[in-house]
Amino acid sequence: MKIDQVVLENPFILAPLAGYTDLAFRLLCREYGAGLCFSEMVSCHGLVFRQKSTLDLIATRPAERPVVMQLFGSEPDIMAEAAAILSEQSIDGIDINMGCPVKKVIKKGAGAALIKNPRLAAEIIRKVRQNSQVPVTVKTRTGWNHHAIVAEDFAKMAEDSGASAITVHGRTWTDGFSGEVDWQCIARVKKAVTIPVIGNGDIISREDGLAMMAKTGCDGVMIGRGALGRPWIFSENINPNPSLHLRVKALLRHLDIIASLGSPVPPFAKTKNHAGKYFKGITGSASIRQKVYSCSSYEELHEFVNSLIT
Ligand SMILES: Cc1cc2nc3c(=O)[nH]c(=O)nc-3n(C[C@H](O)[C@H](O)[C@H](O)COP(=O)(O)O)c2cc1C
Repeated sequence: MKIDQVVLENPFILAPLAGYTDLAFRLLCREYGAGLCFSEMVSCHGLVFRQKSTLDLIATRPAERPVVMQLFGSEPDIMAEAAAILSEQSIDGIDINMGCPVKKVIKKGAGAALIKNPRLAAEIIRKVRQNSQVPVTVKTRTGWNHHAIVAEDFAKMAEDSGASAITVHGRTWTDGFSGEVDWQCIARVKKAVTIPVIGNGDIISREDGLAMMAKTGCDGVMIGRGALGRPWIFSENINPNPSLHLRVKALLRHLDIIASLGSPVPPFAKTKNHAGKYFKGITGSASIRQKVYSCSSYEELHEFVNSLIT
């Protein structure tokens, strides 16, 4: 799969997940074979005002490339200014969030609200494109609700406005994160545009992803929740339900990456959220997770996790 000149070695892509897809987790997923990783969404206002917490979100390292940083906002000029700032980073693309269902984002006309306002969405894409040195992509949903499935027209609009790829989460805004993922809509979007289409929603194994690509014709698949605590999902050679030993090794590597990055150290609560997920579904997981959450420092967490296999 290619997004303009950016070649992906693997069509399995890490989704943007606010609170999770930080630099350390992206680096880990790349080590396990993710073809491309998306940052969590970054506020255009935060960037333009150079807020420290926002600047922390766009920290990157050469080892994670190719990487796409995602912007959210609804004012074309501010989005354009933010895109110019992002372009100063060594990144491979800028994605525009046109699918986030969260009320705080919608109220400002951003995220999924843009599905209802394709003219504004087009202006944002055009201006971001004009102000960035890297490909611009869009991530959206099938529509606002089941009476208005508009992804085909929306994707055509995105392509005409300068987008180099489009991701479709196969759900509407009203669906939130549940209900069936609409593979047929993803297939129709693929037929409607010439830019690469990335399918998204409920992919929890390589087999699911390969099936989505085969059935919809999409060029790549994006994995969100299925990658949390399971970065090996991107690897061809690892059993999807690996042993405790492999889980612990993956988590220890995650902690090592955090340590190697130095500052800013991710908030410890965030790291514990990641850590707990590595043990989901295995025997004794409840008590392991309880112990993970009771740790009060990185050192204590590292020691506890290590003790599980020694
Ligand atoms: C905790 C969480 C945070 C998310 N943050 C973002 C985000 O920052 N930007 C975005 O476009 N989508 C975001 N999403 C949506 C995911 O990228 C993805 O579209 C959705 O979870 C469906 O894919 P999945 O079933 O593989 O998780 C988020 C979803 C979750 C659960």
